[in-house]
Amino acid sequence: MKIIVTGGAGFIGGNFVHYMLNKYNDYKIICLDALTYAGNMETLEPVNCNPNFKFYKADIADREAVYEIFEKEKPDIIVNFAAESHVDRSIDNPGIFLQTNVIGTGVLMDACRKYGITRYHQVSTDEVYGDLPLDRPDLFFTENTPLHTSSPYSASKASADLLVQAYHRTFKLPVTISRCSNNYGPYHFPEKLIPLMIANALADKELPVYGKGENVRDWLYVEDHCSAIDLIIHKGRVGEVYNIGGHNERTNLEVVKIILKELGKSEDLIRYVTDRPGHDMRYAIDPAKIHNELGWLPETKFEDGIKKTIKWYLDNKDWWQHIINGEYKDYYEKHYSRK
Ligand code: NAD
Ligand code: DAU
Repeated sequence: MKIIVTGGAGFIGGNFVHYMLNKYNDYKIICLDALTYAGNMETLEPVNCNPNFKFYKADIADREAVYEIFEKEKPDIIVNFAAESHVDRSIDNPGIFLQTNVIGTGVLMDACRKYGITRYHQVSTDEVYGDLPLDRPDLFFTENTPLHTSSPYSASKASADLLVQAYHRTFKLPVTISRCSNNYGPYHFPEKLIPLMIANALADKELPVYGKGENVRDWLYVEDHCSAIDLIIHKGRVGEVYNIGGHNERTNLEVVKIILKELGKSEDLIRYVTDRPGHDMRYAIDPAKIHNELGWLPETKFEDGIKKTIKWYLDNKDWWQHIINGEYKDYYEKHYSRK
């Protein structure tokens, strides 16, 4: 089995590459990544010498480059993680989100049609459903919740989902889509809530909480997301959408306070800052479909996962400090000029 993992130098894609190479010693995993600011070859350092792993630096929206890789590798499965993924950046600069998340998805599916694959899997997000009110804890996103996006990021992800469904209906492309809640764990880029707060707390810097910190996210340990995608690409029904989430709802303020407590730092470090425009209030996934159809259940409770994550950031300071001081950008040049 040969799998192309796009965006494999990013947070979830990187964890997925590690997960698949550990689990299947007869699978070839090909990572295709443009190495944007969010892509980091240091995340792939542990697998770089694995004979079952190969890396291509390429943009998913570059048709010629993508076709060339498909022609050469003849993959069975594509798992598309590649995306611009940060909501705040999409508010500052929406254009690149359309280019990568929409156009790039279209190019990948055209390559799948041209060269033939057994499965195209689109890694989507719960943000395509918009948000839920704080005063209705009985409501959850199901796969039938209408798409109702808030940010340029979520609109671009929803557009990509519609395109994937259209390629299935019109061209019979064998696709699946997963929509997951907020992930956390190792290799999470320190611009996102949890790693940013860990890094700032360790440096005794202020922790910027948007608005009143009341917004709720449904946190899932990244390895549980990987196991869900593994199940979907092997056993999921073609043409279907699967929600992924573990009923781990927390307000942002709760998360920040847990991090400060674990690190023995004072809550005085918290600073309330101007809210994110269009800020979604609450995300909450109903994972009944993936549980009932595929038997998936998350393994890591938030209380354990957050401790493991903090320990990982303490044990791997080089990884995130290289990002903060910009050194990680030189890694590709250094690493590949030696080859
Ligand atoms: P990330 O920003 O950490 O990583 C994205 C990766 O994609 C990087 O390695 C980057 O270099 C690569 N990339 C960006 N543009 C590219 C392009 N044009 N061509 C090739 N590679 C490109 O993102 P993440 O948090 O790991 O998210 C991965 C996927 O999962 C995204 O599609 C995101 O929408 C989705 N998702 C994320 C979360 C979450 O909590 N982080 C939750 C649900 C879904
Ligand atoms: O739900 C899935 C989504 O989760 C993914 O599709 C996105 O790619 C991923 O980035 C994430 O989106 P969020 O916007 O929820 O994640 P972020 O870490 O940016 O913010 C989490 C919450 O914390 C959100 O309510 C905004 C708040 N926040 C964030 C930052 C960076 C702060 O209060 N302060 C901050 O500095």
